[in-house]
This record gives sequence, C-alpha cells and structure tokens, in this order.
Amino acid sequence: MPQAPSLEPAIDGPVFAPKPVSPPARPLLAQFGAATLTAAYAAAMGWVTGEAWSMGQGTVPLLLLHAVLAASLGQALGLAAWWLPVNALFVPAAVWMRELDIAPAWFFAAFVGLAALFWSTHRTRVPLYLTSRRSCERLASLLPATGEARVLDLGCGFGGVLLALHRLRPGLRLTGREVAPLPAWIARWRLRNVAVADVRRADFWEEDLSQYDMVYAFLSPEAMPRLWHKACTEMRSGSMLVSNAFPIREADPDLALPWAGAHRSPLYVWRF
Ligand SMILES: C[S@@+](CC[C@H](N)C(=O)[O-])C[C@H]1O[C@@H](n2cnc3c(N)ncnc32)[C@H](O)[C@@H]1O
Repeated sequence: MPQAPSLEPAIDGPVFAPKPVSPPARPLLAQFGAATLTAAYAAAMGWVTGEAWSMGQGTVPLLLLHAVLAASLGQALGLAAWWLPVNALFVPAAVWMRELDIAPAWFFAAFVGLAALFWSTHRTRVPLYLTSRRSCERLASLLPATGEARVLDLGCGFGGVLLALHRLRPGLRLTGREVAPLPAWIARWRLRNVAVADVRRADFWEEDLSQYDMVYAFLSPEAMPRLWHKACTEMRSGSMLVSNAFPIREADPDLALPWAGAHRSPLYVWRF
C-alpha cells in the first residue's frame, strides 16, 4: 500500500522569499502593465489615448507597442510559450471587435456560456477536454467483465466516459462529480435513464475515494500531487487509480497502457 506523501513544501530556500504571482493573475498583470506603459508613452508623445483606442491617429503604433509589451511581460512573468500570441493579440483583437459594431449582449452571452462551461478552471487548473472512445474501451478492459464494480470519474465533464463504460460493462455502478454547471447538467441529462449512475454537480475533492474500486482521472499536471496524496490516504486495498495522460511524479505506475492513436495519451494505473 503506497504511503501518503507530505504536501508541505520543503523549506530549503530563503524563508522570506517573495510569494510568486498566481498563474491566473499573470496574464492580467501583463495586460495592465503593458497598458500602463503604453498610456505613459502616448502621454509623453502628446497623444490622447482615449482617441487612440478607437482607431484614430496613432492607434496602430500604440497597439503594436502594447502587443510587444504584453507578450514580453507575460514571458517575464513565467507564462508558457502559448500565452505569447494570446497576450500580444488580446487588445488589438478587442479594438478590432469594437469596429465590428456587435451588440454588447452577444459578448455577455458568450461570457456566460464560457463561464458555465469552464467555471472555476482558473482555480482548479483543470480545463475541459474529453476522453477518447478508444481510451474508454481500454478503461473498461481494466475492469472485470461481470460484477458490480464501483467506478468514479473525477470531473466527469459531459458524462461520456460513464456512458461508454455503462454500454461496455452494464453491471458497473457509476459515479460522476463535475464542478462546472453546464457539463454537470449535460452529464446528468445524458445518464438520466441509467439507474446505476449517480452524477452530481460537486467538488470531487470532497468525495471519499474509499467507496470505489476504480477512480478515473483526466485532469492536469497541477492536480496530480494532491490527487496522489488523497488516493494514498483514502483508497482501499484492491482498488485502482487510473490517470489519463498525466503521470504522478512521486510514484511510478504499476501499469502504463501506451496509446498509439492520434492523441498519444497513455493510461497510467496504480493498484492499491
Ligand atoms: C479534462 S476534463 C475530463 C472530462 C471527463 N472526465 C472525460 O474524461 O471526458 C476535467 C473535468 O474536471 C472538472 N473539474 C476540475 N476540477 C474539479 C473539481 N474539483 N471537482 C469537480 N470537477 C472538477 C472540469 O470542470 C472538467 O470538466
């Protein structure tokens, strides 16, 4: 049985080291920093920034300056390389959208839709993406062909994994927990006729893992240390933890099923 590792950070650096800026705050900081520097430059040049942002004289050089500054600040704050074009293009795209004269209600609707879909991704650091059908088949192959094994999908998204498992192994007792409202509602609706399924909108960190024979996770590298700690503390002997794509640095898996398809994400299995 694996031992639960400590989640306390080891103190081997200066005790009064500055607190790092949290990852979700970094793009905001890059944009505000770039906007402040660009506005200062515009003021020094005698341009009126309010006019510049609405495609007047001086707009293009200011937008270019803002793009370069925002991208550079983002990199300096330690953001991944894919943030570079996002930071560079954010304000130019916003100014361009203003010119399209789209009713504000559309932006509000898009914001509400995206919030319902991704909800607290900025906090959980786990976005929504879906397990492939092939991985569901591999997952089912890890379970006994008959019997009532209990399976939990941590962050069940639209419920696709649970539905596929129900079709492949009808005897399974299935549980899904999903924090984002829209996917949780869709998952509940898709599994509404499956009597053995319990799908709810809830935080899976609140779930007791000792009730399950298999716990399935398709999360992100950020969530794995905490998940391993929880699994070691709660999962009972004979059960298994399966992670799609993301290994656990602290523990080699007992089994790794390589995936030869387009997505190349293996399934890692730890037996308790
Ligand atoms: C990568 S998706 C996987 C979806 C589904 N399990 C699949 O494999 O198709 C991860 C999901 O976990 C959800 N999630 C992240 N943190 C969560 C938490 N603490 N409690 C419940 N759901 C969470 C996200 O909203 C997202 O829908």
